[in-house]
Amino acid sequence: MGTIKAAVAPSKISVKQWVDRVLDDAKFNVPAAKASAYAPSNIALSKYWGKREASFNLPVTGSVSISLAGHGTHTKLCVIDGPKHQVTLNGKGLDERDSFVIKLSQWLDRVLPNNLKLGVTTVNTVPTAAGLASSASGFAALTLATNNLMGWNLPQHQLSALARLGSGSASRSLWHGFVKWHAGQLPDGSDSVAHPLEQQWPNLRVGLLTVSSHTKAVSSREGMARTIATSKLYKQWPQQAQDDLATIEAAIAMGDFETMAKTAEHNAMSMHATMAAAWPPLVYWQPESLAQMQKVWQLRAQGLPLYLTMDAGPNLKLLFEAKHQADVVSAFETVEIITPFS
Ligand code: PMV
Repeated sequence: MGTIKAAVAPSKISVKQWVDRVLDDAKFNVPAAKASAYAPSNIALSKYWGKREASFNLPVTGSVSISLAGHGTHTKLCVIDGPKHQVTLNGKGLDERDSFVIKLSQWLDRVLPNNLKLGVTTVNTVPTAAGLASSASGFAALTLATNNLMGWNLPQHQLSALARLGSGSASRSLWHGFVKWHAGQLPDGSDSVAHPLEQQWPNLRVGLLTVSSHTKAVSSREGMARTIATSKLYKQWPQQAQDDLATIEAAIAMGDFETMAKTAEHNAMSMHATMAAAWPPLVYWQPESLAQMQKVWQLRAQGLPLYLTMDAGPNLKLLFEAKHQADVVSAFETVEIITPFS
């Protein structure tokens, strides 16, 4: 397995200049009156944890994910008269000071001509900010809907890079199935884009165990920055993340569920260990998360091939195959089953 490359030089251009270069004349296209798009949420099997550059959201390592089919974000856009973008989330109008509105407006202001303001209606079919990656599907759906509204006709890799500017994991949410996000090497992140893997695993199941759907106290952005700055355990992370990514990609290609799922769980536990070793300590788990994790390990010790992964939140995502669905449902009453390749 390769070694991690040294940090790249800082970009010579700003994010705004990069966006203007990518959009070129299309930035000033006449917008349609309205447009919409859907993007699935995704769960990383080998995680993105740590930025090598913050303004472009460039990751320290690559990552690979599985998209969650019908669990994601529906976004509708329309052109409005007014000084500010107006955002509705799950039927509720949001205040302009809301952190989601601020992030979303910043993204829109970078890609739209001055003075063009939008009404954004977003419906999430996953709990917002509960570690179920709703920012990933949110920025992916926003990117696709804006591409439709403005008639940009951009190639997929450029849409992936634009979505990344909103949220790193959004770069992977433009597609269904397995998706790989390349770390890239260029200072402006032009090569830090995702692409879908061709393998289809119709028997793969993901189980969502929601422990809490409250907004997390520490965002992923802040959590990554704190971990890099203060966690001595983080030093080993980039090499492990790169090795795990290669192992998981090979397992996906070979149809090897056990290796894929085992490596995904080990990767998630290692990421959480780097967080726990940060200062102040960063622990997204709740007592109930740990209880559910122990239940998974107990069932596995009894012979059930069941694995888990967790992101920056208290909820568990179970990985298993269709033939064990009945056992998983009977062990976890509240589990929500997702068929990623439905
Ligand atoms: O895209 P962000 O900034 O929400 O960060 C996502 C971080 C993790 O969910 C923990 C890992 C990942 O690869 O999705």
